[in-house]
Amino acid sequence: MVIGKPFLTVEQIQGKVKELANIISRDYEGKELLAVGILKGAFMFFSDLVRNIRVPMHIDFLVSSSYVKTQSNGKVNLHADIRSTVQGRHVLLVEDIVDTGLSLNYLRHMLLGRDPASLKICALLDKKSRRKADIQIDYVGFEIPDRFVVGYGLDFEDRYRNLPYISVFKEKT
Ligand code: IMP
Repeated sequence: MVIGKPFLTVEQIQGKVKELANIISRDYEGKELLAVGILKGAFMFFSDLVRNIRVPMHIDFLVSSSYVKTQSNGKVNLHADIRSTVQGRHVLLVEDIVDTGLSLNYLRHMLLGRDPASLKICALLDKKSRRKADIQIDYVGFEIPDRFVVGYGLDFEDRYRNLPYISVFKEKT
């Protein structure tokens, strides 16, 4: 297994996180947010993002998975749900990366069924070329090519999540 040089450096990521947080703070001015992080992948992005957002908020997490090794299996498993009430709240769903969009589409519909005042999605990375579900991502950090990436919360078989930067994952041949 080889982790090459960073694909996205700490500086690039942190700069983008602040940019997104500023836009979100402006868009939600005067409102209160329910920020929902999708675990495990979004844990690092989520914590950096929320500490830069300047509107009052509640935070909650849900745990879902759909990937086996480097391929989405198309089926979303919800391991743990949020405990907060969604009805009438302004929900911001925070994801690490959108690939086919199937996971987010599933979670989005689930939360919309609970009657939020609004629901928006923020993702650090977007592999737009792989999209299968027609889903709008309201706040995107970086659009990236079709590569499997690890670090900054993203994993391969649950490893490399702790890297502070993002690298392209290459299996040793
Ligand atoms: P989707 O349902 O196909 O959009 O898959 C989204 C989920 O797959 C993300 O939340 C990640 O957990 C995982 N995923 C997709 N692409 C990558 C990648 O390049 N590296 C690590 N995880 C990924």
